[in-house]
Amino acid sequence: MSAPILSINDLQVTYHASDRQVFALQGATLKAGASETIGVVGESGSGKSTIARAALGLLPSGVAEITGGSIAINGRDVTGLRRRDWQPLRGKPIAMVFQDPLSFLNPVMRVDRQIGEAIRRHAPQRSTKDRVVDLLELVQLPASVARSYPHELSGGMRQRVLMAVALACEPSLLIADEPTTALDVTTQAEIVKLLRDIQRTLGVSVLLISHNLAVVAELCDQMYVMYAGRVVESGPADEILSHPGHPYTYGLMTAARSLRDADGRYATIAGDVPSLAERFVGCPFAARCPVAMEHCTQLAPPPTSVAGQANHVAACWHLVEGKGRDDHRDIAGAGARHEGVQA
Ligand SMILES: Nc1ncnc2c1ncn2[C@@H]1O[C@H](COP(=O)(O)OP(=O)(O)OP(=O)(O)O)[C@@H](O)[C@H]1O
Ligand SMILES: [Mg+2]
Repeated sequence: MSAPILSINDLQVTYHASDRQVFALQGATLKAGASETIGVVGESGSGKSTIARAALGLLPSGVAEITGGSIAINGRDVTGLRRRDWQPLRGKPIAMVFQDPLSFLNPVMRVDRQIGEAIRRHAPQRSTKDRVVDLLELVQLPASVARSYPHELSGGMRQRVLMAVALACEPSLLIADEPTTALDVTTQAEIVKLLRDIQRTLGVSVLLISHNLAVVAELCDQMYVMYAGRVVESGPADEILSHPGHPYTYGLMTAARSLRDADGRYATIAGDVPSLAERFVGCPFAARCPVAMEHCTQLAPPPTSVAGQANHVAACWHLVEGKGRDDHRDIAGAGARHEGVQA
């Protein structure tokens, strides 16, 4: 069997900010194989974008340090690669679509030139004109967009242009980091549908980073749940979303399903998102976990254990100790409550 396109194993990343250290990844493991659609979910600050940046060698130099674990692309270890050696790997085999297209697109360059440059970077001999039209068609934009500047387009159209630039590189894996967050609900749905169409038409793998469980449920075959710099649960999306193995995943699902309360507030998981200023001794979720046992904070972070079908795993001491998922479900619901998130 060929190696996965992207394989991240027990990755540890620390940011050395001027006034503090942030242990942003404390053991993140993730794989993306051919023709897969993978979702990465987790609260803000859980390390989702750090994983994406690490996968493209885009961690800020002089600030971020990989202190452990490994990254491999198509079976090649790229963990310690120097910055300039990353260049040939960017775009192909892995391309990225960012949340904010305006910060990526050149404001004074027409769309056709921006797509054309991406084509030429990967295939210098190629004539770009027809290919630009093909790519615009692929992202379901009219050919007339080719002569537009980014500021003349709507947010959804810019996101499509960014996808065309990424696809111009002929990636095997497209990483989309919160591609819909800045868009209105209707446009979000269109972009999700487009990602699915692209995945099916080109057979390209998609790794979608999202806060939105409903989007992941609709689009993804596999999913990873991140908490405090770790992947705490992974496996087939439909199985996780019907039988979550980790109390955190259960809490996320409960919060996502719940309606607003009488004061118009949404449900969140009780307790604060943990500070990443320290490495965790025990389970990082223990302080917020409604089924935490005394030793959850004291023992080492729980290893991943099988939580269902063969490749559905979760990192929870309850699973290690043989208690079933249903125990979590009974008690974990107590952890989702309505608290101060304003509508
Ligand atoms: N350049 C940086 N310097 C210092 N700390 C950083 C830097 N970039 C990210 N961090 C910190 O690393 C942690 C993980 O950040 P990251 O952006 O990966 O989270 P995220 O899951 O993508 O969050 P969001 O959902 O808000 O996008 C956070 O605590 C964040 O404040
Ligand atoms: Mg992010």
